[in-house]
Amino acid sequence: MEKYRICGGNRLSGAVDISGAKNAVVAILPAVILCDEPCVIENIPNISDVSTSLNILSAMGAKVRRIDRNTVEIDPRSVFTNEVDHALARTMRASYYFIGALLGKCGSARVPLPGGCWFGVRPIDLHLKGFRALGAQDLPLDQGVIELHADHLMGNSVYLDTVSVGATVNIMLAAVRARGMTIIENAAKEPHIVDLANFLNTMGADVRGAGTDVIKIRGVQHLHSATYSIIPDQIEAGTYMAMAVATHGDVLVRNVIPKHLESITAKLEEMGATIEEMDDAVRVRCSGPLHHCNVKTMPHPGFPTDMQPQIGVLLSLAEGTSVITEGIWENRFRYVDELRRMGAEVQVDGKTAVFQGVKELVGAPVEAVDLRAGAAMVIAGLAANGITEVDGIGYIERGYEDIVEKLTRLGADIRRIYVPEAQVRNA
Ligand code: EPZ
Repeated sequence: MEKYRICGGNRLSGAVDISGAKNAVVAILPAVILCDEPCVIENIPNISDVSTSLNILSAMGAKVRRIDRNTVEIDPRSVFTNEVDHALARTMRASYYFIGALLGKCGSARVPLPGGCWFGVRPIDLHLKGFRALGAQDLPLDQGVIELHADHLMGNSVYLDTVSVGATVNIMLAAVRARGMTIIENAAKEPHIVDLANFLNTMGADVRGAGTDVIKIRGVQHLHSATYSIIPDQIEAGTYMAMAVATHGDVLVRNVIPKHLESITAKLEEMGATIEEMDDAVRVRCSGPLHHCNVKTMPHPGFPTDMQPQIGVLLSLAEGTSVITEGIWENRFRYVDELRRMGAEVQVDGKTAVFQGVKELVGAPVEAVDLRAGAAMVIAGLAANGITEVDGIGYIERGYEDIVEKLTRLGADIRRIYVPEAQVRNA
C-alpha cells in the first residue's frame, strides 16, 4: 500500500503547470463513441479516472492509441457492445456518461450504477428524466445495472429541477444525434460543460448556449473526426493556489484560464492573499496572517463545491471564526474529522461548518476519505508543523496528475512511501 509522507513548513515557490480538466475529459472520452470516425484528444491528464475511461472504451471494442503521455487517438468504429464493464464502471462516478453516449449512438445502454466519492445520496433521477423525455425506456434496475432502450430519440425540452452537471452532460450526449431540437433548461454552466459542447461542435454537432442556463441541441445525422485539446483544470489550479496560501509562499500557477478561477481568486484575496492575473497564469503570494471569512458553495460561477475541503484547511488557520455552508452536497465535511487530528477546531452541523482558527496545525497520520478531502489533507500537511502521513492516496490520484512531482518542484518535502501489507494489517 502507498501513502504520502509530508514534512510540513516549507514555503512553496516557483511555477506549476496545470493539467487538463478531469471533469471535462471524463465527459469528452465517452462522447467519442458518438463519432463516425476516429478522434484525437490532447492535453489529457494522466490520472486514474482517465485510465479507467480509456479501459472502458477498449473493453467495448474501441481502438485506443496513446500518441504521447497526454494525447490519445480513439477509433470508436469497432465498438461492438452497449454494455460497460461492471468492475471498471464502479471505480468512478463519470462512468454513467457512457449511458448518454451509447443511447445517442445506438439507442441502447447497459451501465452499472457508478461509484465515485461519497457525500451522501447521489441520485440520477434527473439523468433518467432527460433520457425519458427524449423517448428512451428504462428497464427496472437489474443487479445494480441501468438499462435503457430507444427505437429513436426525439428532441424535447427538459427542465432540471436541480442544477446538475452530470444530468446536463448526459442529456447533451443523448441529444446530439436525436431527431429535432432538445432544450435543457436550468442547465449547469461549469467550464467543463462548455468544453464538452465545444468538443461536440468540433465533431459537427449543433450545441448552442453552453455556459448559460439554457442549452439548445439540434440533432445531426453525422459526426466527423476531430482533434480537440482539453481545457485546464479549474479545481487543480485552485488547489495549488490554496497550497501557496497555506504555506505563505509565492507560486506562479501556469496554464490556467483566469476567468474560470474568479470565485476562488476573490475568496483567497478576501483571506489576505495577493493574486496577480496574467493571460494564462496567476501568481499567488501570501505573507501575512490569514483573515477569517465565510464561504457558500454554489453552482458555477459561484464558489465551487470541489474547492470546499481545500478552503476549509485555510479557514482552520485563519484568525477568528469562519463559516462554510455547503450548498451542493448533503455531507461533504467528512474531511473535518481528519483535520481535527491535526488540531483544527471545527464544529459541523449538517451543511454548515464553523471554523475557529488555530495558530498552527500539527502533523499526524490522516486518511483521504475522498478525492478533494485527500487534496485538503495534503494542504494541511504542507502547512503543518511536523510529519503528516496521508493514507488512501488512490482517491487523490484519481484527479491530480503527478502531484508529488509538482509539489517537490515547488519546494515541498513530500514523498510517496510504500507500506508492506503485513505492517498495514497490524496497524
Ligand atoms: C459533478 O458531479 C462533479 N463530478 C463533482 O466533482 C462536483 O462536485 C459536482 O458535479 C458539482 O459541481 C464530475 O464532473 C465527474 P451534480 P455530479 O449532478 O454530476 C443533485 C470532483 O471532486 N442531483 O451536479 O454527480 C445532487 O444530489 C467531483 O471532481 C439530483 O438531485 O453532481 C447534488 O445535490 C466530486 N439528481 C446536485 O444535484 C440527479 O439526477 C449537484 O449534483 C443528479 C444530481
